[in-house]
Amino acid sequence: MSRNVAITGAGSGIGLAIAQAFAEYGDRVHIADISAARLEAAQQAIGSDIRTTVADVTDPDAVRSFVESAGADGGLDVFVSNAGIFDGYAGIDETTPTLWDRIIGVNLTGAFYGVKAASDLMIPQRRGRIIIIGSVAGQRGAADGLAYAASKAGLEGMNRRLAIDLAPHGITSNVVAPGVIKTDIRANSAEQLQGIVDVNRGVGATSDMMDAFVPAGRSGEPREIADVVRFLADDSASYLTGQVISVDGGWTAT
Ligand SMILES: NC(=O)c1ccc[n+]([C@@H]2O[C@H](COP(=O)([O-])OP(=O)(O)OC[C@H]3O[C@@H](n4cnc5c(N)ncnc54)[C@H](O)[C@@H]3O)[C@@H](O)[C@H]2O)c1
Repeated sequence: MSRNVAITGAGSGIGLAIAQAFAEYGDRVHIADISAARLEAAQQAIGSDIRTTVADVTDPDAVRSFVESAGADGGLDVFVSNAGIFDGYAGIDETTPTLWDRIIGVNLTGAFYGVKAASDLMIPQRRGRIIIIGSVAGQRGAADGLAYAASKAGLEGMNRRLAIDLAPHGITSNVVAPGVIKTDIRANSAEQLQGIVDVNRGVGATSDMMDAFVPAGRSGEPREIADVVRFLADDSASYLTGQVISVDGGWTAT
């Protein structure tokens, strides 16, 4: 049966691969992104059936309107909180209040707005799957900058409480935490950070660093994240909730 799936930040990279994975299963896929140009390219890549909405996840009304329209016809089955930006590996010395607020605003508060709107729809339905895209940086300080690490660790805490609140209603919530994945996150984040930090640094910026951090010795493909997300939305994952699933080539095993 075709499900309604809503994904934020799905104009590019991991979110786009997630949208593709659900579309291949015949689900009705609704995607939001801050970039109209990336949404248009995503629609061309996936097909005209996909529904697109320009929305900034830091705007709670825009997020709620996106989520509600995705669930308007038959309810909301799956919500994927994916929109995120990278902080250029900035440590405490370089993390200004402006940088902190933007990273936390998109990665953590933006995710809260999404899961709040999705939960409000899913609780009366007594069904639903929430999947939050975290990061290895939620557990590894060396993975990214200060604000980014704080935002991704915050998602893990939010997810655990969310799972407790939603389990009695038949809804699961999990975090998928990618390692280094081949996407345009550096360039896309730079658009929003407007020169506050240099985004071309840190693990993944050069291939030699990958060998030091990642046992698999390579970065991952967006599809390798998308397939785990799709599994979490399947019936076979019905008893799996409140977890952080690292998809990182073994990085967090080190
Ligand atoms: N690429 C990696 O190595 C990696 C690793 C760990 C976690 N992640 C996480 O995966 C998620 C997706 O990242 P990606 O690598 O695919 O990056 P990406 O830049 O390719 O895709 C992210 C998309 O989110 C959109 N976006 C950014 N801010 C937004 C906002 N305020 N409102 C709506 N949309 C917004 C961007 O326009 C972009 O299309 C992020 O949460 C990121 O933190 C990525």
